Amino acid sequence: MYRSHSCGELRAAHINTEVTLSGWVQKSRDKGFMVWVDLRDRYGITQLIFDEERTSKEMIEKAKSLGREFVIQVTGTVIERESKNNRISTGNIEVLVASLKILNEALTPPFTIEDKTDGGEDIRMKYRYLDIRRNPVKDNLIFRHKVSMEVRKYLSDQEFIEVETPYLIKSTPEGARDFVVPSRMNEGQFYALPQSPQTFKQLLMVGGMDKYFQIVKCFRDEDLRADRQPEFTQIDCEMAFVEQEDILTIFEGLTRHLLKEINGVDVTTFPRILYDDAMRLYGNDKPDIRFEMKFGELNSVAQHKEFGVFNNAELVVGIAVPGGNKYTRKEIDKLIDWVKRPQVGALGMVYCRVNEDGSFKSSVDKFYTQEDLAQWAVTTNAKPGDLICILSGKTNKVRAQLSALRMELAERLGLRDPKVFAPLWVIDFPLLELDEETGHYHAMHHPFTSPKPGQMELLDTNPGDVKANAYDLVLNGNEIGGGSIRIHDKHIQATMLRHLGFTEEEAKAQFGFLMDAFEYGAPPHGGLAFGLDRLVAILGGQETIRDFIAFPKNNSGRDVMIDAPAFLDEHQLKELSLKSDIQA
Ligand code: AMO
Repeated sequence: MYRSHSCGELRAAHINTEVTLSGWVQKSRDKGFMVWVDLRDRYGITQLIFDEERTSKEMIEKAKSLGREFVIQVTGTVIERESKNNRISTGNIEVLVASLKILNEALTPPFTIEDKTDGGEDIRMKYRYLDIRRNPVKDNLIFRHKVSMEVRKYLSDQEFIEVETPYLIKSTPEGARDFVVPSRMNEGQFYALPQSPQTFKQLLMVGGMDKYFQIVKCFRDEDLRADRQPEFTQIDCEMAFVEQEDILTIFEGLTRHLLKEINGVDVTTFPRILYDDAMRLYGNDKPDIRFEMKFGELNSVAQHKEFGVFNNAELVVGIAVPGGNKYTRKEIDKLIDWVKRPQVGALGMVYCRVNEDGSFKSSVDKFYTQEDLAQWAVTTNAKPGDLICILSGKTNKVRAQLSALRMELAERLGLRDPKVFAPLWVIDFPLLELDEETGHYHAMHHPFTSPKPGQMELLDTNPGDVKANAYDLVLNGNEIGGGSIRIHDKHIQATMLRHLGFTEEEAKAQFGFLMDAFEYGAPPHGGLAFGLDRLVAILGGQETIRDFIAFPKNNSGRDVMIDAPAFLDEHQLKELSLKSDIQA
């Protein structure tokens, strides 16, 4: 038996008990005739005491030879600790060691295994197994486990069945590039790894499964950011005989359940906003509504004066920064520099101070009267003591820029409290999105999303105006889930694919199996998928999903620990009928 108790378990009630513990040496203190060792495992830390008088000289010599992270097993008696440590759960006791066995030695770790480590990101990723020994990473993984368990519990109680779907499939377009896997047995042919199990879950509905879910890996070859990994996990769900309302209700329930069980928070409302309104009021399809600062569109009150920049702009739009009038000129200049950074891309920023006495002072005073500026304050809902920040330009660009400024200011003002949770449904997304580079429309969600009733006709004349039965769940400014009511009619699906630029042959080759299935009694169906990594990170009060993934990839998509991806040798390439001009 390696252990009778864990290192987080022993209390005063165990005094005089003989115990066996195993774990890692966190640190030791050598007082000559006495040595203390902190022994650590997943559950906590227990202090061991080696005392020359009460055991033996050999024992104390052996204890002195222990290095950091050695794996040891000890047997001894639980005794009361002289100087108690109320910072740890085992702080009232220590174990007087009678026997010590070194199970494995360890090299000195390349960084300290402490909550606040001296190791940078790169080195911690290379030695991720050591990083996982640290509480912040370990706790995040345990937290993730708890969330997954609660998800399974809730969905299973609602009669959802978890079904696994294949990883070696044919491309399912979700807007990213596919990762592909060459087939040895089918020369020159490739599988694609699923960007999501989208078509399979629809086939499960045709198969009569009625309510499906799966906690499943998805693979997308796309540019990486703090909230994106090339392989990530979805809570993927689909239901038959449902309308949008049924789906929103179920997943509101799941989110409520998680916030209650995991965070102890009761969320009362799940407001809904139309996509068009989200864009107009927040410049963004995933608004953070923990704070106000809604956009005020100023075209009617700021154009047609003498100020050419505004007159020539498609959109003039501003936000009121609460208490912003206290910013010095220098601070405002810094803010202007911030919006001009290439990542934001604004050409400049106009501002207007709202003084406590109700008067205004703007950076464009020579073009506007106090009455004009009063209108700006009304439109942006600015109060005395606020600062109005205004950007102008092309609608889409300027909205994105002001949205970035809104988030930055909220961060600086401490309005993005990670302990406050503000969910929001964004509904009625456009069906299609124009790719400005190619001039072609593509599906904003995916090609299986149904248009809103009565909108099919618009596809020919105004494709950009067609709205979809598609919705996203946003939590604290992050898109944590998205879904739609699907097309379940072969002819509508064929029309949709034609509008997306697929020829009949291409549509048949890529999605023939789905359209064939629709000929055998496909029920009306719809669903949604949550990004588990994102959900877990946000419930955990953070936004970087890497911290909640055991073995994540870096920003170049590399696993620096196992050094992947890697070149294949000639033999393997030949077996897969692949050629490479690139030398390893
Ligand atoms: P969608 O593409 O919106 O929908 O994805 C669902 C959710 O998955 C998360 N997500 C990601 N998380 C981490 N890294 C990524 N690279 C990444 N990409 C997406 C997001 C997102 O909201 N098949 C549809 C769902 C459906 O229609 O039912 C789909 O995959 O949180």
